[in-house]
Amino acid sequence: MTTDALASDKATRIHITRLHRWTDKLITFRTTRPAGYEFTPGQYARLGLHNGGVMIWRAYSLTSAPNEEELEFYGIIVEGGQFTSMLDRLKQGDELWLDRQVFGFMTPGRFDDGEDLWMLATGTGIGPFISILRDEQAWQRWRRMVLVHGVRHLHELAYADELKTLQASHAGIQGMAALTLLQAVSRDDPGQCLQGRITTLLASGALEHSAAMPLTVEQSRIMLCGNPAMIEETRKMLHERGMRPVRRMNPGQFVTENYW
Ligand SMILES: Cc1cc2nc3c(=O)[nH]c(=O)nc-3n(C[C@H](O)[C@H](O)[C@H](O)COP(=O)(O)OP(=O)(O)OC[C@H]3O[C@@H](n4cnc5c(N)ncnc54)[C@H](O)[C@@H]3O)c2cc1C
Ligand SMILES: NC(=O)c1ccc[n+]([C@@H]2O[C@H](COP(=O)([O-])OP(=O)(O)OC[C@H]3O[C@@H](n4cnc5c(N)ncnc54)[C@H](OP(=O)(O)O)[C@@H]3O)[C@@H](O)[C@H]2O)c1
Repeated sequence: MTTDALASDKATRIHITRLHRWTDKLITFRTTRPAGYEFTPGQYARLGLHNGGVMIWRAYSLTSAPNEEELEFYGIIVEGGQFTSMLDRLKQGDELWLDRQVFGFMTPGRFDDGEDLWMLATGTGIGPFISILRDEQAWQRWRRMVLVHGVRHLHELAYADELKTLQASHAGIQGMAALTLLQAVSRDDPGQCLQGRITTLLASGALEHSAAMPLTVEQSRIMLCGNPAMIEETRKMLHERGMRPVRRMNPGQFVTENYW
């Protein structure tokens, strides 16, 4: 299919408006937002880049709030990765393609009940939770929210300052959730952060202890995003606690999104 045919039908051109490098491998990029492109926090877009004559498509969670003028994404540059090697070379003004359709079901609206929202992310899996927390809806819906970000190294704790600002600006306001931020670092001296993998910290009770809040079938609703092995191991632990994934006709306690 020619790019002109793509432009009129399945996909549309967008342009990079801003790039921020957190590390040499971690990048936040903002793009223009096509008219009529609507999404719910937690959903993802499909982005396309030309490689010779072929268009390469990859999924990217939206980190921007649904009411922002631009779209934002947070990504890692994978060594030798087909898409991200090209992404690494992009600069302000460069063109990408955006599938007109929005994807994904890992949204807080999947939960019919529960009072406490737990968001567990490894690495770039924090992306959808940034969008969720930039939107006022989640703050009004939940009594408490806990965001756990697990990374290898301290310098990979992207968005930490903005998250603290969001936490402070909602603190103590009637009708707004209280947000607990937990950071776990697996390969550095953790300093003020938790030490180790999210799964280890869940199994030991350290996450619940640090959040001063138990994970219960009645009250807790959990979103898991990022490394598929983390999600699989956590899923098993939640099963052992009597929790089940949300299905179309069946309410449950957790929803997941594997990044690879
Ligand atoms: C629903 C969904 C949402 C996604 N959202 C994001 C996002 O918001 N940000 C993002 O960076 N990626 C995201 N991804 C992954 C992304 O689509 C690509 O896989 C990634 O950009 C690498 O593409 P690539 O062609 O360079 O390498 P690929 O050939 O696609 O991947 C090569 C290998 O890199 C590793 N890898 C891929 N993605 C990641 C990652 N995010 N973190 C750590 N290791 C990874 C895996 O080991 C994978 O097998 C998402 C994937 C899915 C399915
Ligand atoms: N980040 C880097 O410095 C670096 C360096 C070289 C290559 N890469 C490439 O970058 C990608 C990795 O990126 P990333 O560091 O963002 O993601 P990642 O490998 O998923 O690591 C993020 C966090 O998830 C943890 N984790 C991994 N497997 C887990 C499991 N089964 N259960 C629970 N937690 C688990 C990691 O702990 P552990 O530390 O214990 O694994 C780490 O704390 C890979 O493609 C890799 O090849 C990254």
